[in-house]
Amino acid sequence: MRKIILSVISTLVVVGFLIGGLLLYMRGEGFSAREQPTWMERTMARNARKIVTPAEAKNLANPRKQQTAAMIAEADEHFVEHCGICHGIDGRGDTLIGKNLYPKVPDMSKPDTQQLSDGELYYIINNGIRLTGMPAWGSEDKPEAIWDLVSVIRRLPKLSPEELQRLQKAAREAGGELAEQAPEPEKKETGEPPNEGETKPKHTHTHVHKH
Ligand code: HEC
Repeated sequence: MRKIILSVISTLVVVGFLIGGLLLYMRGEGFSAREQPTWMERTMARNARKIVTPAEAKNLANPRKQQTAAMIAEADEHFVEHCGICHGIDGRGDTLIGKNLYPKVPDMSKPDTQQLSDGELYYIINNGIRLTGMPAWGSEDKPEAIWDLVSVIRRLPKLSPEELQRLQKAAREAGGELAEQAPEPEKKETGEPPNEGETKPKHTHTHVHKH
């Protein structure tokens, strides 16, 4: 009996030491997602990604480069709904989730992303990036929709005011976390009370009253 008690106690002590050691390690930010990857980690990860991406995939050209206004509008909405939560509706990555992932989401308007070929962008969106927060979308989205997302990413560095407005509108319509990224359009700074004519249809007095 004493033997059993002794062995239980010594097992508990060992387990205690292990848990204590693990906690100390974690306290030293060992597992924290809050740190920025080091330059070394980033370079190694990007290069590894380049090496494993098949050459045929990298060299694929976007078959939907010519875009109609309807395609652009649909792709913008798609980008907001599926990507905006992490990447931000403008692709800059300044979002609650995007900033706190490890590695963080990149600012996709910057050269690091823009220098990737269309094929590489397609491959990344289709397959995701292992061991990161970037999901694979290939089982969810059709190839055409993914190519159109590649086109959205290409437009990010030079978003026109109209396009930004469209992205913001889509975000407001999606609601929740996304809507928080899209402030209401500015109200006119006249002395008039706000909301006049915004909720109600405009009353312009152009119709003729017959008395
Ligand atoms: C859950 C969060 C999340 C969502 C949703 C998400 N991504 Fe990502 N994405 C990431 C993270 C994190 C990275 C960075 C991975 C890395 O550093 O290797 C990333 C990286 C990328 C990259 C590579 C950029 C570069 O320069 O390396 C592309 C392209 C991309 N995402 C496109 C998209 C598109 C398009 C969508 C929507 C269909 C999307 N992502 C949805 C988290 C997300």
